[in-house]
Amino acid sequence: MVFHDQKLTDDQQIDFAAHFGPIHSSAQKARHHSIKHRLARDEIADISNLDGDGKVMEVDHRRRLDGLANRFWHTDASFRTVPGALSMLYAHVVPGEGGDTEFADLRAAYDALPQTKKKELEGLIAEHSIWHSRGQLDVTKYSPEERASLPPVPQRVVRTHPGSKRKTLYIAAHASHIIGMPVADGRLLLLDLIEHATQRQFVHAHSWRQGDLVIWDNRCTMHRARPFDTTQVRDLRRVTTRDVASTLEQAA
Ligand code: OGA
Ligand code: MN
Repeated sequence: MVFHDQKLTDDQQIDFAAHFGPIHSSAQKARHHSIKHRLARDEIADISNLDGDGKVMEVDHRRRLDGLANRFWHTDASFRTVPGALSMLYAHVVPGEGGDTEFADLRAAYDALPQTKKKELEGLIAEHSIWHSRGQLDVTKYSPEERASLPPVPQRVVRTHPGSKRKTLYIAAHASHIIGMPVADGRLLLLDLIEHATQRQFVHAHSWRQGDLVIWDNRCTMHRARPFDTTQVRDLRRVTTRDVASTLEQAA
């Protein structure tokens, strides 16, 4: 859902999101406890290319990888036991060009799978870890302590959305492999599913305007950021509600 021309403070954005469920506090500060953060409240994830002083990040800034990692197809916080439900991303400043956000519909993607593939996926559980996705960029940037703060978690590969009762894929760049299957086979299966789910017919691109509030459901979509000139300011801020439980404790 897209709401144009909104004027929200961080507090108002958090209060609004809280109507839809408990808020997932951002893991950014746990991951980067030694650096200065720009935004005061833990409920807000800083989706910008700005440092603690509000200046465009230097190319070697520690937090810069967080923004770049959003360019992988993912669903928010699937690497936490209780993952994200609704994300609400609000645009304070957008670059002149580029920096769209794309969304893939994982219910439509599931529906379009051949029957044999649906059977093959039944009951499969993937291991999700933020270090799997970050590892494809540069995992050496993180200390052992930071890595230990977010251990891998299991999540279902197919789940039933509690609202529509439709079956949906639940996959992401954080999904590393399938539990009980050789790592290589599981990884290739996940890559194939991501490729299938991100065909153009399942994807919508949002071009940002300042003041846009965009809300999506992480339980049945993936999303990714698109490139832009990172010497320009892009200041988006996100609040995400918590799902009710791990996907393992919800309908398959
Ligand atoms: C996010 C995210 C994409 C973007 O806020 O969770 O992935 O385009 N954002 O900034
Ligand atoms: Mn995201």
